[in-house]
Amino acid sequence: MKGLVLSGGKGTRLRPLTYTGAKQLVPIANKPVLFYVLEDLVEAGVTDIGVVVGDTQDQIRAAVGDGSAFGARVTYIPQLEPLGLAHAVHIAEEFLQSDPFVMFLGDNLIRDGIVPFVRSFQQGGMNCLIVLKEVQNPQDFGIAQVQDGRVIRLVEKPKDPWTNLAVIGIYLFDHHVFEAVRNIKPSFRGELEITDAIQYLIDNGYNVEARHLNGYWTDTGKMDDMLEANRWVLEQIEPRCDGAVDSASSVYGKVVIEEGAEIVHSVIRGPAIIGKHARVENSFVGPFTSIYHHCTILNSEVEHSIILEHCHIETQGARIEDSLIGRHAQVHPAHTKPRAYRLVLGDHSRVGIL
Ligand code: TTP
Repeated sequence: MKGLVLSGGKGTRLRPLTYTGAKQLVPIANKPVLFYVLEDLVEAGVTDIGVVVGDTQDQIRAAVGDGSAFGARVTYIPQLEPLGLAHAVHIAEEFLQSDPFVMFLGDNLIRDGIVPFVRSFQQGGMNCLIVLKEVQNPQDFGIAQVQDGRVIRLVEKPKDPWTNLAVIGIYLFDHHVFEAVRNIKPSFRGELEITDAIQYLIDNGYNVEARHLNGYWTDTGKMDDMLEANRWVLEQIEPRCDGAVDSASSVYGKVVIEEGAEIVHSVIRGPAIIGKHARVENSFVGPFTSIYHHCTILNSEVEHSIILEHCHIETQGARIEDSLIGRHAQVHPAHTKPRAYRLVLGDHSRVGIL
């Protein structure tokens, strides 16, 4: 069994971060989403992995390398344009050949791994296996009609959903999927849709089955979901301190302080993680916060947020919440008159002011 991880795409819902970075590399509890995906594959014994990459391929290649750090062998498959999930399958045919494979969207995060799905598929008899999960907003997903364990129909973003079970970003296929992706047409949004490829398999008599995921899953393609994933992973974190905490500071609850981090005259209330060589001074870091490497948090309060590397945050005691702050961002007091917000924001940035 091979793996196919999709790490290209447009990432429009996570702008402006995705103008300069790969969304699959945004750290959740200080580990890129994509790394959780690769670990899940390796845990299921899938070590020969193709990674589909787009505009951000240099960053993905730099972070993942040849895959040996994960116990895997990674082959990069450049996709010149993000023309859809089924297009990604199409261009991966040379790598996948006639092997069965598990396709994992590189921005999806699940708690309990994929071992049961891989085992089920390996028992044979299926041409495709999809994974379903209850969601509160099925109208925003693809949903499946299942009869006696077999999928008989897939509908993308239905107006009147008959079920709250959505198709999530883990799919298992045998080689018949290549026949499907060759025979479907682009959708109204110009993409080759994986739901159309699966519907082709159903319509042509192939066996498509579904399994139910009970554990946690989220697609981190939007900011709120990214924060939720961060919250969820931090709740499971094992506390440890590899950095320095001075005697004027207090650390409560599950907190990870990574190597070289310094906590000075501050309060950290977990679950939270403070990255390598970060400095938190005269500040409060509240629950569900991930501060990545080389950040400085000075005279500030930060809670329920993800702060990427090399940020400098200095709010004069004001509180930052529910925020996702990109690399090298600076928030600092404006001392000049008149008293005003002074902003340098990238396209599609969002700022909530008091
Ligand atoms: P999506 O989140 O469905 O699409 P997107 O990344 O273009 O984002 P948005 O909708 O916000 O514009 O993609 C799911 C995963 O698949 C994600 O990791 C990106 C990847 N992908 C590809 O590798 N190639 C593609 O052609 C597409 C559409 C997505």
